[in-house]
Amino acid sequence: MSVIANRPYGTKDVLPAEVNKWQTVERCAAETAEYFGFREIRFPTFENTTLFKRSVGDTTDVVQKEMYSVTAKSRDNGKDPEEFTLRPEGTAGAARAAIENGLLNEALPQKVYYMISCFRHEKPQAGRLREFHQFGAEMYGSKDASADAEVIALARSLLDSLGLENVELFINSIGCPKCRAEYHKALKEYFGKHKDELCHTCLDRLERNPMRILDCKSPICQGIAKDAPVILDFLCEECSAHFEKLKTLLNDMGIKFSVDPKIVRGLDYYTKTVFEFITNDIGAQGTVCGGGRYDGLIEQLGGNPLPALGFAMGLERIIMTMENAGVEFVPENKCELYIATMGEAAQRKAAVLTNDLRADGFFVETDTMNRGLKPQMKYANKIGAVFTMVLGDNELETGKAKLKNMETGEQTDIALDERFAENFYYNITSLKLKLDS
Ligand code: HAM
Repeated sequence: MSVIANRPYGTKDVLPAEVNKWQTVERCAAETAEYFGFREIRFPTFENTTLFKRSVGDTTDVVQKEMYSVTAKSRDNGKDPEEFTLRPEGTAGAARAAIENGLLNEALPQKVYYMISCFRHEKPQAGRLREFHQFGAEMYGSKDASADAEVIALARSLLDSLGLENVELFINSIGCPKCRAEYHKALKEYFGKHKDELCHTCLDRLERNPMRILDCKSPICQGIAKDAPVILDFLCEECSAHFEKLKTLLNDMGIKFSVDPKIVRGLDYYTKTVFEFITNDIGAQGTVCGGGRYDGLIEQLGGNPLPALGFAMGLERIIMTMENAGVEFVPENKCELYIATMGEAAQRKAAVLTNDLRADGFFVETDTMNRGLKPQMKYANKIGAVFTMVLGDNELETGKAKLKNMETGEQTDIALDERFAENFYYNITSLKLKLDS
């Protein structure tokens, strides 16, 4: 069908028939996070551009190539225009909101989760969109490795609940600024030897932030990065001990993992622990979840120094992985009763009955299209109504109607009196009990 403008490249529509997949994941994520003591936080879809430059880092692909930014008139219409950016991720916005609203002055640790849309101007492919959705969790206040274990356990637990036990966990430590200084020296020396082959962006990174070359998407840079020194060989004593404690805790908790010294993550704020959950089942974009510690970020954004950590899952990738694994999604709610009508008096009675039953928590439909009985019944069939009931002059006169089980064709009389809801409840519950047994 042609419309005046199609949906933007790299975005997706989710139609009603598919929305149960999203709801399955979103409800499970919220529930699991709440069991772990995380509370929902909501923050704006756009922020001041500076926030992302300062946190995600101005040598990252996200900031250098992928942000959707606009320049807008300043609030007072004055000279200095303001620059805003659609959020490419949630950590920066959540941290900004936590600092700005004094959340971090309350009892620690503070644990928050969010379900958000994010925007990155990337080349779209399977599992990579320009507008995508994240479930994220952030924990503020603890520098101990037990917090890392708890955050990883939350991600693991959610993936397991969604039937994704096969998605594997990879962990690494990228150290603190102290160990990073030594590592940067080694990287500069290594990549310095390949200066002629590096892409234009990485040449700049070589001077400013050589670690970013490790996650450049250019195949040539990726080839060179394969043999680069790994950070694990440069960890200071404290970072090493932290990593060892995390591994012990994960083993104690029965959470399987592999150490992958190549994981550096594409965002600048990370310190110490980084981790990813990866599947091989959905093609090249198999990282369904990524996260880590970011002990310097809160202070960098203007808060009091406070360690923090978290992760985010890509909901599109999670759903793709579930589809691939044949996981069953919670089905759409089914219409429990369709009231078909013949004549105006019946239509009026049906409107009242439908409204009352809905208020009592039943899923009920009736005709609003002024159709004849046959098309009404066809529609009831199409929407999969569990029971139907026909109301006409006869039913109104006798005060009784026939409740029809659409699966078996069985019919029972039901009185159209004040006990209607109660009687209907009895019918639908005994049917459900029969189906369950
Ligand atoms: P990230 O690795 O950039 O980390 O993104 C997290 C997840 O979002 C990825 O693992 C992937 O599943 C999904 N994702 C990223 N980009 C796209 C895209 N273009 N299309 C579809 N899915 C995508 C972060 O965003 C950090 N804020 C995570 C974090 C939270 N670290 C600490 N706390």
